[in-house]
Amino acid sequence: MEHGRNIDALAADAIDHYMFGLARMEDIRRDGPLIYTEGKGLEVKDAAGKSYLDMMSMQTRATSLGFGNEEIAKAIYDQLCKLHYAGCFANVADTTIRLSVEIAKRAPKGMTHTCYGGSGSEANELAFKAAKQYHHATGRKPRAYKIIARWNAYHGATMGAQAATDSLGTRHASEPGVPGYSHVPAPLNYRNPFGMEQRKYYDFCIDYLEQQILHEGPDYVAAFIGEPIMQTFGVQVPPDDYWPRVREICDKYNVLLIADEVISGFGRTGKWFAMQHWGVTPDIITFAKAVTAGYFPLGGILVKKEIAEAIPHFLHIQTYQGHPGGCAAALKTIEILERDKLVEKSLSNGAYFLDKMKRLDNLAIVGETRGLGLWTAIDFTSNKKTRATLQQEQVGKIAKRMRQHGVLAGQNVYGIELAPGLIATQSQLDRCVDVAEQSIKEVMKEERLG
Ligand SMILES: Cc1ncc(COP(=O)(O)O)c(C=O)c1O
Repeated sequence: MEHGRNIDALAADAIDHYMFGLARMEDIRRDGPLIYTEGKGLEVKDAAGKSYLDMMSMQTRATSLGFGNEEIAKAIYDQLCKLHYAGCFANVADTTIRLSVEIAKRAPKGMTHTCYGGSGSEANELAFKAAKQYHHATGRKPRAYKIIARWNAYHGATMGAQAATDSLGTRHASEPGVPGYSHVPAPLNYRNPFGMEQRKYYDFCIDYLEQQILHEGPDYVAAFIGEPIMQTFGVQVPPDDYWPRVREICDKYNVLLIADEVISGFGRTGKWFAMQHWGVTPDIITFAKAVTAGYFPLGGILVKKEIAEAIPHFLHIQTYQGHPGGCAAALKTIEILERDKLVEKSLSNGAYFLDKMKRLDNLAIVGETRGLGLWTAIDFTSNKKTRATLQQEQVGKIAKRMRQHGVLAGQNVYGIELAPGLIATQSQLDRCVDVAEQSIKEVMKEERLG
């Protein structure tokens, strides 16, 4: 009873004093906020003492090494005691340089330079500024300022990153936004907005990009940005020829290719960077989240050598860029990923997981299960013939039911997304599939579906 009162008091304090990001206050008031108090491995406890298996790396896919990793916590502590800050301008900490070297070793060939910010949004801002300053510096396209992004993409919350963003509705409420952004269709699995045959739709997406560059004027287009695997509607793995052909188009018009690897970087898909699945070297990669396994806010850009070297004076400064605490966390994260072969395990355990998930395809409301590495999704449908979407509220009920059964999954519009920490064991993956199956069946029965 006493315990219950404490939770209620905490929830009331949350409502009275905390502004939730992207959660409706009416939902928070009705269902209560989700207050967590501690975690170990992939198990996390809420304020009522209930334990959950976190199969979504805390919804944002940041906690890629689970909770309570003392090695990373100690690396941060030791660094903060030794040198917690080194300034900016020409100043830099030794730890920050060491991180840049370690990232370059694992990057697509030729990507050598890094610059840091504090988040994925800042990483994308950095990328846009680097792209514009590159064109200005080389003098070949001195007026190139436009950015082309993709329908349904998410690139962040700051104004430039948000202008590139097209999901979650966040862009509209804050408009007018930053000028110079336009959007093109992106590859989607299972269904597409035009009802085209899928292969035709993929070709259309690629052709559309070229037409958009021509329409905007190649001399004005600085960069094209895309998530290698778009998150919206659940893990949109593109066809194998998509990124190679996009690379060719970007090269043809001297448009820089920015790969937003804020989710997919550092092992999520079974490679250090997802673009390595297709052997494509972007001009700039943006990263955040798993670079420190969520133990410290850090993001950044990884830039091709010739692009970094063509910018003689990068006009950008942030007080906390390359913060030594974050860089120490990232160095330890990389060391653990390598030592425990977690990038390789993400690929093999991801294949194991997807294979187990495939049995869900037999359920009447499951349209498709898909994924790459430890990043998978269940795409729901109300009609397998037409591939019509299931109602979002019904998908939400499935995610909620999984939570009631002790497994945290993410709703991604019409699908359920699963992105566990890379330390997930096969028995945890099995449990997740069992709980997903049970929850889907229960909701089907209650909602009279299928
Ligand atoms: C692909 C992608 N890019 C950028 C961002 C923005 O990162 P942050 O929330 O760290 O600013 C996110 C966040 O979810 C993301 O998923």
